[in-house]
Amino acid sequence: MADQFDILVIGAGVAGMSVVHTLARLAPSLKVGLVTLQAPGQAGATPWAQGGVAVAWGNDDSPALHTEDTLAAGAGLCRPEAVEVLTAEGPQRIQELLDMGANFDKHADGRLELTREAAHQRRRVIHAGDASGREMARALARALPTSVQLIYGQLTRILTQGSRVVGVQLDGQRSLSAPQVVLATGGVGQLFAATTNPAGAEGQALALAFEAGAHLRDLEFVQFHPTALAVQGAGANLPLLTEALRGEGARLIDETGEPFMSQYHPAAELAPRDVVAFALWQHRQRGHQTLLDVRQLPVAERFTQVHALCLAAGYDPAVQPLPVTPAVHYHMGGVEVDLWGRTAVPGLWACGEVSSTGVHGANRLASNSLLEGLVFGHRVGEALAGAEFRQAECLPAVPPIELRPDPLAMARVREILWSGLGLARSQQGMEKALGRLEKLRERLNACGSTAHTVASLMLRSGLFRQESRGAHRRLDFTQTSPNWVGHTLLVPGQVARIQPLQPAAGAELMVRSI
Ligand code: SIN
Repeated sequence: MADQFDILVIGAGVAGMSVVHTLARLAPSLKVGLVTLQAPGQAGATPWAQGGVAVAWGNDDSPALHTEDTLAAGAGLCRPEAVEVLTAEGPQRIQELLDMGANFDKHADGRLELTREAAHQRRRVIHAGDASGREMARALARALPTSVQLIYGQLTRILTQGSRVVGVQLDGQRSLSAPQVVLATGGVGQLFAATTNPAGAEGQALALAFEAGAHLRDLEFVQFHPTALAVQGAGANLPLLTEALRGEGARLIDETGEPFMSQYHPAAELAPRDVVAFALWQHRQRGHQTLLDVRQLPVAERFTQVHALCLAAGYDPAVQPLPVTPAVHYHMGGVEVDLWGRTAVPGLWACGEVSSTGVHGANRLASNSLLEGLVFGHRVGEALAGAEFRQAECLPAVPPIELRPDPLAMARVREILWSGLGLARSQQGMEKALGRLEKLRERLNACGSTAHTVASLMLRSGLFRQESRGAHRRLDFTQTSPNWVGHTLLVPGQVARIQPLQPAAGAELMVRSI
């Protein structure tokens, strides 16, 4: 008989660890397994997050103002109730993190330091230097309940019986039984040729959840960070140069040494993230180099992580401008969930970047992702504490899966998505990318074909949405259209459709087969 758990949480970033912490507090007798590829504290994208976590904390701030900014960034596609949950419950989750020993930067009188970032009306980003995610991950991992069983492995299947979840397969061979499974597996950056995401962020859980019957939402919405360090020959992984550098006065210059952002937006370096990323793309298309000049900033003291990353890549930020490029940073789309992290499949839950709660809409507000992991991870834990735990009598027999896909074929997938589903998209580019992707299918084993499925669904969602909105920018449909005020929804066995935000409003909505 396979190992039996009440709950398996897949992924040990901020969202997965938050689920586990909440369960240990509310339902300590449950047998919980935490599946991870790396030790908690080092797993997933959480320790890579630099800037910080946004929360309505200051005396001049409120959840209502934080909600306003989040809705504005989301370009009409946020789910307001989810945003209200995020901003209202955020302060309490941060307090719990502080009680756990998280060490954020403070003023001499003990108050938390709050930074302001682009598109926030208030100073509300709490931080630990530029290693904020690392500090959060450290605090959560250090306090991890000893009752939780750590399981090292990679999710390769979600096992179902009838329509409900009964367990998972790990590493292509090992089956574990659990009536409740939580996906907290992170994003998709590693499907692109340039990303700030860590290895492993290939979005496989999206395809596995879809195969199990879950709905996928808004897969076309990919956020590009404007300033990844353009290290030659680094492969897909590029070091992040946090937005906070521009907040503190860093300038974007080209090979002439002149700042160029004011040609593209009046707020120049402080324009919203998608605007800055697109401006860099345009400037590069016009044949210019793009560099971030941080020579006037105390980088070695205030931005220690950035400083170390630059030195490791052979750049001294104190003496030379840094070559930067936009890179894939965050996936707004994901597995559709309700306000408690439930998917359409009984027993399957999702939180963090892999999920689509509706808080990010078409474009995530900077520094909202760590907060989402904390708040919705906690909610999943709370809901699960009262769930049903009936073990399957036996697990379905599934064939083993070969783990490592052909690295050359995966490199092709990355290059295809980068060119077809990059910062500026068009029907022609996405159709060409789909065609090239199809030709690769036979070169990929089962593990690689999961990544292939995700890439293909993302391209199809991009083709489906015939407008520009938020982070989805089309060269052939440059305007935001009232006909597309809705989510793209992929339901297994059905064509993609647009799910209206307010069904009662009766807006004319387009439906096309993909
Ligand atoms: C950054 O530090 O620039 C990234 C912050 C974020 O993605 O929210």
